[in-house]
Amino acid sequence: GRVAVLMGGCSAEREVSLKSGQAVLAALQAKGVNAFGLDLGKNALAQLLAEPMDRAFIALHGRGGEDGCIQGALEWLGVPYTGSDVMASALAMDKYKCKQVWLGQGLPTPASCLLTPESDPEQVVEHLGLPIMVKPAHEGSSLGMSKVDSAADLKAAWEEASHYDARVLAERYIQGAEFTVSIVGDQALPVIGLQTSHAFYDYNAKYVTGDTQYLLPSGLPDEEQQALQELALKAYQAVGCEGWGRVDIMVDAEGRPWLLEVNTSPGMTNLSLVPQAAAFNGMSFEELVLTLLCSARL
Ligand code: DAL
Ligand code: MG
Repeated sequence: GRVAVLMGGCSAEREVSLKSGQAVLAALQAKGVNAFGLDLGKNALAQLLAEPMDRAFIALHGRGGEDGCIQGALEWLGVPYTGSDVMASALAMDKYKCKQVWLGQGLPTPASCLLTPESDPEQVVEHLGLPIMVKPAHEGSSLGMSKVDSAADLKAAWEEASHYDARVLAERYIQGAEFTVSIVGDQALPVIGLQTSHAFYDYNAKYVTGDTQYLLPSGLPDEEQQALQELALKAYQAVGCEGWGRVDIMVDAEGRPWLLEVNTSPGMTNLSLVPQAAAFNGMSFEELVLTLLCSARL
């Protein structure tokens, strides 16, 4: 059958998605799969209807492609697709709702609240302490995020985030180290530690400057690495994720883990984390892509 690699889209992560999609497409073709790339634009529905496909590899990131919308369209079309279903995709894309689900299951995630233009900065700081991370609720790749060190800076941070999303989240900043756990199938891959000279692992650290250090192996003692993997799997399952994903976690100075988010369509660029973790486990990029394709379902 024909496999469509869906990429591009209209979210702020469009450029990242094009890179992910090209890499996935090249890998599938190298494996002899009859695959073609589909750079989705504003008329994505018409594009999907115009291109017959038997299976879709979703290499889209962010709104429209990672939030249940494209997944719903593919359900209507009867085309099996990679990754999570409509519900889990939508839930994972809303950082605030996702945290509520985790809290409901007793899983640790930093205290947070929604910010509106009416929010009283002093009250927010009283509730969350300082520093605070301000984020668009439905965005990826750290776009629109800032770290706030005083109540006076909250308003500007809200404005920056609100360029990306009407829903803006304020979250207690966890001082510590960032880790990420990739999940393929029902298996957690080796933990990767992230070290950046930036204030946090932001868009530039992720894709532009290349000055992020990836620690793989993570340097954590075995028990701690295992604990993070178990926590990541629980967080992933709590949201109902399927196929694959990547859970981002902070570990504070006392060694306590805090869940930040789960990505249901993680990056597949040459700097991306899931392919690195898979490679460390002896799985090549091509094998990883094939495994994900085979797990596609309706
Ligand atoms: N949102 C980016 C693509 C990631 O999580 O890898
Ligand atoms: Mg994300």
